[in-house]
Amino acid sequence: MKILFATSEALPLIKTGGLADVSGSLPPALRALGAEVRLILPAYRGMAMAADAREVVSAFPVEEHDMEVRLLEGHLGESGIPVWLVDAPSLFDRPGGPYADPKGRDWPDNAGRFALFARAICAVALDHAWLDWKPDVVHANDWQTGLVPALLAGADQRPATLFTIHNLAYQGLFPGETFTQLHLPAELWSPNGLEFYGRLSFIKGGLAFADRLTTVSPTYAREICTPEYGYGLEGLLQYRSHVLHGVLNGVDYSVWSPENDPFIRRRYTPRNVVIGKPDNKRALQERFGLPLRREPPLIGMVSRLVSQKGIDLVLEALPGLLELGIQLVVVGTGERRFEEALREAAAAHPRQVAVHIGYDEALAHQVEAGADMFLMPSRFEPCGMNQMYSLRYGTVPIVRQTGGLADTVVDTNPETVRDGSATGFLFRPSTAQALRITVQRAVEWFGRRSAWRAVMRAGMRQDFSWERSARTYLKLYRLAMEDRNRKRDPLRWQAAAEGNSLSDPRHADTHS
Ligand code: ADP
Ligand code: GLC
Repeated sequence: MKILFATSEALPLIKTGGLADVSGSLPPALRALGAEVRLILPAYRGMAMAADAREVVSAFPVEEHDMEVRLLEGHLGESGIPVWLVDAPSLFDRPGGPYADPKGRDWPDNAGRFALFARAICAVALDHAWLDWKPDVVHANDWQTGLVPALLAGADQRPATLFTIHNLAYQGLFPGETFTQLHLPAELWSPNGLEFYGRLSFIKGGLAFADRLTTVSPTYAREICTPEYGYGLEGLLQYRSHVLHGVLNGVDYSVWSPENDPFIRRRYTPRNVVIGKPDNKRALQERFGLPLRREPPLIGMVSRLVSQKGIDLVLEALPGLLELGIQLVVVGTGERRFEEALREAAAAHPRQVAVHIGYDEALAHQVEAGADMFLMPSRFEPCGMNQMYSLRYGTVPIVRQTGGLADTVVDTNPETVRDGSATGFLFRPSTAQALRITVQRAVEWFGRRSAWRAVMRAGMRQDFSWERSARTYLKLYRLAMEDRNRKRDPLRWQAAAEGNSLSDPRHADTHS
């Protein structure tokens, strides 16, 4: 099976969040199961070098954008998986990040940048780019590639499409007039298509038109069908719930494993974690100038500093947390207000709170290895990678019971300790009080040394490797191909729309 994996970030080339972890590790896992996978990404500044892409393998005009794009061919790190980079220097060769300028402001022409990216993906998908390679399936990810299933839906001889929602909070919403500026097919402008209350929604292109939909955990798949998590898209998602699947992300244990982590002071296994962890804890305390003491539980966080991650709850709960005698290390970047509040907290409590504002891969590993507990009080979390990394490092996760966090962590109580299933701590209400009470509960269990060791080891034994999820994706690709074959009508969205407003929950078909 041939798969074109379309994404706006992938390790080791470019990363802003978990999408890059997934895009860098799912394709190799698919290949290990016999699939032929190729990636396609924008050629941001520095990408050609990172992907070792020296060869121009195609050049073609994108008429709607009055532009000629080139495709460079490179590969995805050591995996050697082929990567095509869409080279359009006026849009992608810029300083800063993939979505924002060096000051963190979204690029004002993001709609045009990712619409052009989508057009280029479609050209490759339909073999209009003269590459002599036609995929059976295009696997698109998040709003940046949301237009792809919509544009392909009307094409002859098209590949099947699967769209993965990594985060429904980011939708690629633009003013309605952008639709015309991008010269998108007129029939796509409807509430059953790309229109979202008068605005243009990129993500709806994926949600309404892909043959199959996935999101990155079973719980999040259910949550996004409710008003609380659906942002007004819950009606459409309910309507499509028979093709919506929750597939848990996997972990690349060749990168995230304390047994062979090159970034940490002392490597360790479940057997010698009781020696390895204190050494790494000391290293972390040294790095941050915290008192070099073994007893206080050290709580780590590595996170984008945005309200999704519940960082405001941590700030609000901080006085109560500090009374518990803990040490707290936070590594992250994001909204200025959170960065400043964290810096102030570190300045006010230098013996207990330490903060690194910035993106630092090595430090993320050192926090995983050195902390006793890992805090993720997310308001919502489609999957979350760090709680799974934490489990492998014997760093007990304290998480809100939502999305992938609820699917990967088992709460610690006398019963789960007895049956050996306890791996972390969960709380439900999104409040500072619930957070503090749960940290307190964790600190109490931390004092019971043998129970704590059992919880650490149970976490380290969990296996979230990619193989199982990759097999599920292969099955879903096959189903997507069958779905496509059944729907020969290129304007099927209009057929689907008859008598049914896709975005209106009143008409929703709720079987899931
Ligand atoms: P999201 O994609 O919503 O940010 P995930 O938990 O899926 O959340 O993935 C976040 C990824 O980004 C993890 O691999 C995490 O280690 C990494 N990360 C986040 N912030 C930083 C940072 N400041 N420095 C290094 N790595 C970070
Ligand atoms: C998103 C989500 C995160 C998930 C990641 C990878 O960034 O916020 O929960 O783990 O995508 O799927």
